[in-house]
Amino acid sequence: MSLFTRWADALDGLKAQGRFRALKPPRGLDFTSNDYLGYSTRGQTPSAAEDRGQKPDGSKAPLAGSPAVLCPLSSDLSLRTSGLASRLLRGHHPVWDEVEAGLAAWHGAEAVLVMNSGFTANEGLISTVVEPGDWVATDELNHACIAEGLRICRPRKFAFRHNDVSHLEDGLRKEAATRPAGREMFVVTESLFSMDGDRSPLPAIVELAERYGAHVIVDEAHSTGCFGPGGSGIVDELGLRSRVLATVHTGGKALGVCGAYVCGSALLRDFLVNKCRHLIFTTALPPAIGPWWLDMLPKVTADAAGREKLHTNAARFHAKLRERNIPTVGDSYIVPVVLGEDAHAVRVATALQQRGYDIRAIRPPSVPQGTARLRISVHADHSPELLDQLADHVAEAVRG
Ligand SMILES: Cc1ncc(COP(=O)(O)O)c(C=O)c1O
Repeated sequence: MSLFTRWADALDGLKAQGRFRALKPPRGLDFTSNDYLGYSTRGQTPSAAEDRGQKPDGSKAPLAGSPAVLCPLSSDLSLRTSGLASRLLRGHHPVWDEVEAGLAAWHGAEAVLVMNSGFTANEGLISTVVEPGDWVATDELNHACIAEGLRICRPRKFAFRHNDVSHLEDGLRKEAATRPAGREMFVVTESLFSMDGDRSPLPAIVELAERYGAHVIVDEAHSTGCFGPGGSGIVDELGLRSRVLATVHTGGKALGVCGAYVCGSALLRDFLVNKCRHLIFTTALPPAIGPWWLDMLPKVTADAAGREKLHTNAARFHAKLRERNIPTVGDSYIVPVVLGEDAHAVRVATALQQRGYDIRAIRPPSVPQGTARLRISVHADHSPELLDQLADHVAEAVRG
């Protein structure tokens, strides 16, 4: 039985029991949400206690000065500042249909499901699609939320050495030869690693996964917005969309919004809506955030100049550090300067902070033991002069 048959069977089973669920916007008088004091829809001023009645669709006109009225991008008063309830109950708002359709089109994908954060999107996706007894190959440097997802679903796990495709192939080959019937294989990686700034060898990973019958999940938290002609990430830039099971994207990094989403097939989306505890048992994002996403999407799609500036700045900064004999990893806008001992990293970071830079020391457990580092995040709007000056100051602080 293929993975997709497994999902389709599970959903058919729910349909047969009349327990298949879909996301529906609120309608009718509200006896569902947890908006007990009416703050979300009426504002938090003392006069919120006034009952101004509900409109036929169950919404209430917010009071002047309430957060809903102050929503910066929309005059639509139904765009509340609370999610009210789970998306499966009264927390689904039509704005999310629009956001999800826009995001799916951006990726050229079948479907998108907005979730509350990248952490819960990764943890929820993985712990929902992977079953105990399945096998998962995970890059040893994958983010904590991927590890958490795996901890929940307790698969047989193979941590392959960072970006080492031959180690990954060893694992895949052995597992494919002995795989128990009905058990699935997955490979999980990030496209751009959060603490190392290097890219995973995605084309090779996807090819190996296909050869051995594994499904690929890619966390694009740090690449979304910054790669590909329209900015939709590395999977799309490489034309791998139809060859991966799912990608995870967060709004809270380059996209400058709030929330996150999983991108994949319509079947995957239905499966998550019905099975993912991280979607079902949490309050939805406030719909007031929806217009931020709608406003951001065309801007990020068109912002090729911003992406070019970002990558040019990153290349310049890496080069300037290397000229000063400071080795760096990767070539992206996440620039790690690995210093080793925690105390050394803290001392260097403190010296840079005293010069006015907000640069932090990253220590274990965020990074492996003995690899404490500076993680310098280069932005598109940093000037070349500032980057050159910082390279001098980093070199001085490291030798300090
Ligand atoms: C690689 C990676 N994945 C996922 C996340 C979680 O994203 P969010 O901040 O939206 O929860 C982060 C955030 O630090 C991350 O670095």
